Amino acid sequence: VRTIFEAIEARLPSRLELFSRLAKQYSDVTLHNMTVGQVLGGMRGLPCVLWEVSGTEKAGIRYHGKSLKELLEILPRWRGSEQISPEAMIWYLYTGTVPTRTELEVFAADLARRAEPPVEVEEFCDSLSPDIASATQLMMCLSVWGNHSKFSAALVQGAPRAELWRHALEDALDSHSCTSVISARIYANKYRDGRDRTTPLNPQGDIAENFAIRMGRAGDHDFTELIRMYWSLHMDHGANVSAHTMRLSSSAWTDPYLTLASGLIAGTGILHAGAISQALRYNQAMAAALGPEPSAQAVEAYICRTLEKGLVVPGYGHALLRDVDPRLEPITRFINSRPVPASASGEQGHMLRLIGRNSTIVPEILRRRVPRMKSTAPNVDSLSGCLMYAHGLEIDFILLVMGCSRGMGFMTQYVWDRALGLAIERPLSITMDQIMAKM
Ligand code: MLT
Repeated sequence: VRTIFEAIEARLPSRLELFSRLAKQYSDVTLHNMTVGQVLGGMRGLPCVLWEVSGTEKAGIRYHGKSLKELLEILPRWRGSEQISPEAMIWYLYTGTVPTRTELEVFAADLARRAEPPVEVEEFCDSLSPDIASATQLMMCLSVWGNHSKFSAALVQGAPRAELWRHALEDALDSHSCTSVISARIYANKYRDGRDRTTPLNPQGDIAENFAIRMGRAGDHDFTELIRMYWSLHMDHGANVSAHTMRLSSSAWTDPYLTLASGLIAGTGILHAGAISQALRYNQAMAAALGPEPSAQAVEAYICRTLEKGLVVPGYGHALLRDVDPRLEPITRFINSRPVPASASGEQGHMLRLIGRNSTIVPEILRRRVPRMKSTAPNVDSLSGCLMYAHGLEIDFILLVMGCSRGMGFMTQYVWDRALGLAIERPLSITMDQIMAKM
C-alpha cells in the first residue's frame, strides 16, 4: 500500500525529466500565435498556463488524460456510496493513478487524523459576526491559518528547493479535511447557534461524512452523497478564475492557506462561482413568476425580458466548453434517482423541475435570440445551487461548499507546481497604444 507521498515520489522522476526536456529542447518552439483579440479578450483559449493535473478541451476537462466519464467508471467509491469518492479524486489528481481500495481507506484515515484546525483558527472563527458572509468568514479564517503553515515554516528554516513540495503537501493534506471542518463550524455558528461544531468526528469516516456530522446532518445519506458528488466533480476545471488566481498568487510561494483565501475571493465574482447563487436566484424568481410548469412561450417571454434589460441568463453557456458540460450528466442522474428531499419546500421542488424542463427549452431560445453566444448549453451553475438549496443549504453557504472543493483541487496543483519548480508568473503588460504601434 503506497502512501500519498510515495505515490507522488513514484511519478516525480518522469515528470521532472519531461519538464527538463521541454525546457532544454523546445523552449523556443512556437506553441500558439497570440492575437490582439486574445489579449483584448481575457486571454481566452490561450494555452499558456502549465497545468499538471488536467488539460482543457472543448468537450470538457481531461484529468491526467482521462475524461470525467472514464473517471466515473474507474475511481473507487467509498463504502455504501454510489458517487466518486472525493478522496479518490484527490489521490488521482495528485498521482495520476487510481487508488486501490486499501490505499483509499489508508489515505482517508490519514486525512481524518488531520481534521483538527489550529485552536487559534477555531477561536477566531467563533469570534466572527454571523452577519459576515460564509465564504468571507472562511477567507478570514484561512488568513489566520497562514500562521500555522508548515510550508512557510520550512521556507524560514531554509528547506532545500527540491523538498518544498513535501512541506506544501503537508499543508495541503491538512487543508483537505480541516477546511471542511472549519466550514461546518462557520455554518454551525451562523445558522445553528453553534450546535454540533464540536461533535466527535468519525475517524473511520470520509471527509464528506465528517462534514455532514459537523453540519448536524449525521446519517443523512443523500446529503452526504450530494457533497461527495459535488466536491469530486468541481475540484478541478483547469485554469478557471479561482484556480488561476490561486496559481498566480502561489507562484510567488504564497503559503497554501493564503493561496486558498485568494481563490475564494476570486470565486465570489458573479461571472465565476458567484454565478451559482445568481442562477439560483434567477430560477427562484422565474418559478415564483411563472409557476411550476410554465409553457415554452411563457419561458421565452421571461427570458426575453431579461435579455432586453441587457442582462445574461445565468446558468447557460461557458467560456470554453462548446457542448453540454460533462459534469451535468452525473448531477442530473443524482436528481433523477432521488425524490426531492422531504425537508425541501414546495418551492424548491418546483424549481428543480423547472430547471429540468428549461435545460431543453432555454438553449434553443438563446440560440435564436443571442446568435453571438458560442454555446447555449446549460452549465453546471444551472443546477448546482438549486440542488444544494433543495437539500437544505442556505444560499450564502453554497458558495463556500464550492470554494472547499476548488481549494482541494488546486492544492494538488500547488504541490506539483513546487515539485516541478515552476517559475513565478510575470506576463508583460501592454497598452492599446503599444499594440497600435505594432500594427
Ligand atoms: C468552473 O468549473 O470553474 C467553471 O466551469 C468555469 C470555468 O471553467 O471557467
